[in-house]
Amino acid sequence: MNYLSENSFSNKRVILRCDFNAPVKDGVITDDSKITRSLKTIKHLLDNDNTVILLSHFGRVKKEEDKEKNSLYVVYEYLKKDIDLEFIQDPLDLNNISTSNSKCFLVENTRFTDVPEKRESANDLELAHMWSEYADIFVLDAFGSAHRAHSSTAGISKYLPTYYGFLVEEELKNLECLINIENRPFIVVMGGAKVDDKIKIIESMLSKCDKLILTGGILNTFLKVSGKNIGNSLVSDEEEVLESVRNVLDKYQEKIYFTDKFIINRNDEIKEVTIDEVENEDVIYDNVVNVKDLLQNAKIVFFNGTCGKYEDKEYAKGTYTLLSELSNIDGKVIIGGGDTVSAVTKLGFLDNFDYLSSGGGATLEYVAYGKLKALEWIKENGVDN
Ligand code: 3PG
Repeated sequence: MNYLSENSFSNKRVILRCDFNAPVKDGVITDDSKITRSLKTIKHLLDNDNTVILLSHFGRVKKEEDKEKNSLYVVYEYLKKDIDLEFIQDPLDLNNISTSNSKCFLVENTRFTDVPEKRESANDLELAHMWSEYADIFVLDAFGSAHRAHSSTAGISKYLPTYYGFLVEEELKNLECLINIENRPFIVVMGGAKVDDKIKIIESMLSKCDKLILTGGILNTFLKVSGKNIGNSLVSDEEEVLESVRNVLDKYQEKIYFTDKFIINRNDEIKEVTIDEVENEDVIYDNVVNVKDLLQNAKIVFFNGTCGKYEDKEYAKGTYTLLSELSNIDGKVIIGGGDTVSAVTKLGFLDNFDYLSSGGGATLEYVAYGKLKALEWIKENGVDN
């Protein structure tokens, strides 16, 4: 790997791809960890007298109306407290970027170029080439976006010498123990809201791990397919997903462990019930996993996706209980995913684990498949440094 930490350069124009896709509520960044974890690379490049052009996506941009709520300006306002920074409003026009040592420019959301026609997300090489013409070097530090081979995460590497920043290096090194498993039992805990985009990953995880504990919203579809009543809870209705869930349940029954207590709100009363007590009008908001014994012997645990709506105090019990149990085991515990890391922070467990990964989908894909699409693309198509 071509790590920035092992190379030095100065007085260059550098395109630095970060993942600034931080959660925002009412115009305020609610968890700044993605931004703060990018600072080491940004500051290193600036301290070495480079001009730094920051690229990042922000949210999902599918149509013109999506642009307003997905402007990176909110990140600009946040970052400029720390860094001498200018905002470039149009990702298709970087002409206002001057070469000026130790100056930093943040370019508006790369996904704005996906409207009217997909460019960034289609890894449009003309777009990548246009960006590359403003720089001498490309640094990829957006670990959280490295499962997407887009123009700004991969394409640019075709035209510029490419390095991996400090965050990508830290992530790859810390997640290595989940790629080549040397210590078992290896237990995976997966939660989160929707099963649709995770079912393939679940299957791959099952082929690697010794036990998979399912919790959160993704469990609902498994319960439904197993013939349980989940009331009005969030569930997938896509036949393809249901079929995959059926297959996974058939093939890996022994390895899958379900949450056993469910928190519902019935007539404004919060209740903890077993699955057989769930009624047609109930919605499951939180799951409490009773896995102390199971976790006790684990040598390594990967936890991604929360057990419920931990942001609301009354639905944080499941996630809190699980984090407490994970805090007490001797084995190594690695936490992945923006939401899961937010829960760890919010519920007071920040210093309790071996590693907190900055990636959500990227970390899941990396652990499940041992590869990331942007890195693979760069390996195959990147210009020789
Ligand atoms: C994330 O938040 O997981 C990353 O920023 C990737 O975002 P995406 O799923 O919209 O590509």
